[in-house]
Amino acid sequence: MGARPVVVLVGPPASGKTTVMQRLAALLGLDSRDTDHDVEAAAGTTVAAIFAEHGEPEFRARERAAVAAALAGHDGVLALGGGAVLAAETRELLAAYGRDGGAVVFLDVDAEHVAERIAADTTRPLLAGDGLVRWRDLMAARRAWYEEVATLQVATGRPVDAVVAEIVEHLRTAPAREGATTTGTTGSTTTEGSSVSDTEQTPQEQPAERAGAGARRVTVTGDQPYDVVVGSHLLGELPALLGERVTRVLVVHPPTLEASAEAVREDLEAHGYQAIIAQVPDAEEAKSAQVAAFLWQVLGQSDFTRSDAIVSIGGGATTDLAGFVAATWLRGIAVVHLPTTLLAMVDAAVGGKTGINTAEGKNLVGAFHPPAGVLCDLATLESLARFDFVAGLAEVVKTGFIADERILELVEENAAELAAWGTWGPGEGPSDHLRGVVAELVERSVTVKARVVGEDLKESGLREILNYGHTLGHAIELAERYAWRHGAAVSVGMVFVAELARLAGKLDDDVVDRHRSILTSLGLPVTYRGDRWDQLLGAMRRDKKSRGDLLRFVILEGVGRPTRLEGPDPALLQAAYAEISSAAPGARTISL
Ligand SMILES: NC(=O)c1ccc[n+]([C@@H]2O[C@H](COP(=O)([O-])OP(=O)(O)OC[C@H]3O[C@@H](n4cnc5c(N)ncnc54)[C@H](O)[C@@H]3O)[C@@H](O)[C@H]2O)c1
Repeated sequence: MGARPVVVLVGPPASGKTTVMQRLAALLGLDSRDTDHDVEAAAGTTVAAIFAEHGEPEFRARERAAVAAALAGHDGVLALGGGAVLAAETRELLAAYGRDGGAVVFLDVDAEHVAERIAADTTRPLLAGDGLVRWRDLMAARRAWYEEVATLQVATGRPVDAVVAEIVEHLRTAPAREGATTTGTTGSTTTEGSSVSDTEQTPQEQPAERAGAGARRVTVTGDQPYDVVVGSHLLGELPALLGERVTRVLVVHPPTLEASAEAVREDLEAHGYQAIIAQVPDAEEAKSAQVAAFLWQVLGQSDFTRSDAIVSIGGGATTDLAGFVAATWLRGIAVVHLPTTLLAMVDAAVGGKTGINTAEGKNLVGAFHPPAGVLCDLATLESLARFDFVAGLAEVVKTGFIADERILELVEENAAELAAWGTWGPGEGPSDHLRGVVAELVERSVTVKARVVGEDLKESGLREILNYGHTLGHAIELAERYAWRHGAAVSVGMVFVAELARLAGKLDDDVVDRHRSILTSLGLPVTYRGDRWDQLLGAMRRDKKSRGDLLRFVILEGVGRPTRLEGPDPALLQAAYAEISSAAPGARTISL
């Protein structure tokens, strides 16, 4: 099929066709066209002059030709002159267009709302004289034609934004309407060698399984199930995750991801959403009460309601902040995460934990607020610094040890390439093989996390296994005043609990050795300063994850067999620490 309009506006004079046309076209990124202007351009004079010189029948003949040409050749928003529907030929064309999935919107308005506009307008030949009386007559005569051709009737005597929003909703929810919903200017989503234009399907029409190049979908079950989509170039998936009710979207991003945020904003607007961008500080700087308050202010000033949404783009710091703001605005609005670090994909963005830091510590203020969906676009990882990528691998390895040995095998088989992430030359990127490995690692890790948090959102039982290596890890992060990356600290913490389990008689030597060999092969640290035990022990006792004074650790009885060790003998703890202590204080600390 050739070009045809995305939407056609019909209605009486002064119903607001021009304003609605321009606003819709701007919102959807489309061209606009008005058949009255086409007739004027062809004649080189005004409609009023054609009426005066040639009479109405001549104008109607030119109008019929202009409408037929525009219906067959314009691919944006089209507004028809008020009397165009008088022609049976035109009504037939509109009916055929509507039957074919086209959208014809009747902008309905009552006399009360047009009175002022008509009085101020001297360009409409049919309203000369007592304009309002003439307008009532025209409307009475034509209403049935407007209603006959319309696929949607919208009242326009109200703010134009509301009118436009109703039309956009109609475009989104109408049955298959080729070319009817979006702009064609937003690119496409590639699915296994073929290209599916965003213009071809409305968000609601996209089947649940549709995802970009070989993308996989993991469902997190629980009271509010949601999908985590893992793949590349997934932007086309976002509207489906946001759902039908959302009108406004706040896109939150750190400075490094400005271009990505802009691409997301454009895509959202092309799908009919109102999108606003909010840049927040980088990394942990974003997780503060001040930054949260800034975002609440933006939401308030932009009239965000409970049916609007936030989209986060960034690492775990950004997803934690955006999730927290979504959890607290109007007691909870939808959030979709677009994590762009490995850590955020496999951990922070999945599971519904959100939070900010205070002067008293990290993540002390927060809420459980599961997202409406998560898009793990693996292509974004290619700009990630090596150390950030490797730090994320620590959580992947953790997942392997607690629940999925295939993850460990994949890391062992590809350690050198994984550890060299991001060190490729200009214009180069990871090999296809490495991309496949990373995709599988992310998918497997997300699958484990989805299963665990699906059963235990609030960390009352099973979810605790995800803290493997974290008790000492948190204490090291604190001791290092957060100069160490989280993954590096967790890496040391995992070797510590492996040694603890071995000394407690629960874990074989070879599994402990496997911890060291895998983590070391990735360039992750496995030792920490010998002179810091007392400090670390104190921090672990104060950790919010401990219960009262009783220290508890997640340990392994084998790969994939986590259990708890409660209140271990202090001598045992110290002995385990001796196994991971570096000989000279500070000599082997690696600030990854
Ligand atoms: N909610 C949870 O369940 C959970 C779990 C684990 C960690 N977290 C939190 O996650 C945070 C750590 O996450 P993180 O390691 O992703 O840190 P981060 O968000 O600070 O990101 C690390 C750095 O990478 C940059 N970056 C992000 N994406 C990039 C990309 N695609 N290309 C280039 N640079 C990019 C960021 O700008 C930042 O400088 C911590 O605040 C931690 O508390 C939360």
